[in-house]
Amino acid sequence: MEIISVNSYEEMSEKTCSMVLNKIKHLQNPVLGLATGSTPEGLYHRIIDEADDVSFRHVSTFNLDEYVGLNKEDPNSYQYYMNDKLFKHIDIPDENAHLPNGVAVDLEKECHDYERFIREAGHVDIQILGLGLNGHIGFNEPGTSFSSRTHVVDLDESTRNANARFFGSIDEVPTKAITMGIETIMESKEILLLVSGEAKAEALARLVNGEVTESFPASILQQHEHVTIIADEAALSKL
Ligand code: GLP
Repeated sequence: MEIISVNSYEEMSEKTCSMVLNKIKHLQNPVLGLATGSTPEGLYHRIIDEADDVSFRHVSTFNLDEYVGLNKEDPNSYQYYMNDKLFKHIDIPDENAHLPNGVAVDLEKECHDYERFIREAGHVDIQILGLGLNGHIGFNEPGTSFSSRTHVVDLDESTRNANARFFGSIDEVPTKAITMGIETIMESKEILLLVSGEAKAEALARLVNGEVTESFPASILQQHEHVTIIADEAALSKL
């Protein structure tokens, strides 16, 4: 794993943006894996700032996850987040921007189809990842099998608590989500993991130096051949 140490959240976003745009400029049909949460917001701002000079018409995107039960008009759905923070500001064709559908009638089929779409697109060229406090990536909670594919998960109480800040109260946070599996994520050709702030320092240290174990899902990244961690000093403080 390569670790790039930056001074601030802004620098992390800027550095990641230039790596992503570089990929977009050099690949014929780039496939981006995208994440939600607070961490990549600055990255999306940066991308929008550059959007006059870079076209996304030839780009496909696949998001990691979506809450079950929230439709795309719900401000807390990840579909809404992505439209609001990125897609509506760039020229990516609607049909190229994919998220799991959390209100699909048949969720199993939805997971299966999502896997197929990723495969047919030729797999993810560059996957953006954030890090959950309990080591989750996407919504793969501790205990998830390393051989998991896109699936429906029960969210940990700690994850629901961490994300309750976006909702009116903890009771409104969905209890289930669809997420790419660990194996799906590991098939990405390149991974950029973004980590900012002291609250994540413990988790980042465990990811880098800890045992590779399903009880800390992000530890699997030690076994990926092309991972770059872009983290600020606070996040790197326990390494
Ligand atoms: C959320 C998302 C993850 C995200 C993580 C960290 O639950 N499902 O994809 O990376 O938790 O979120 P944040 O960046 O807000 O700390």
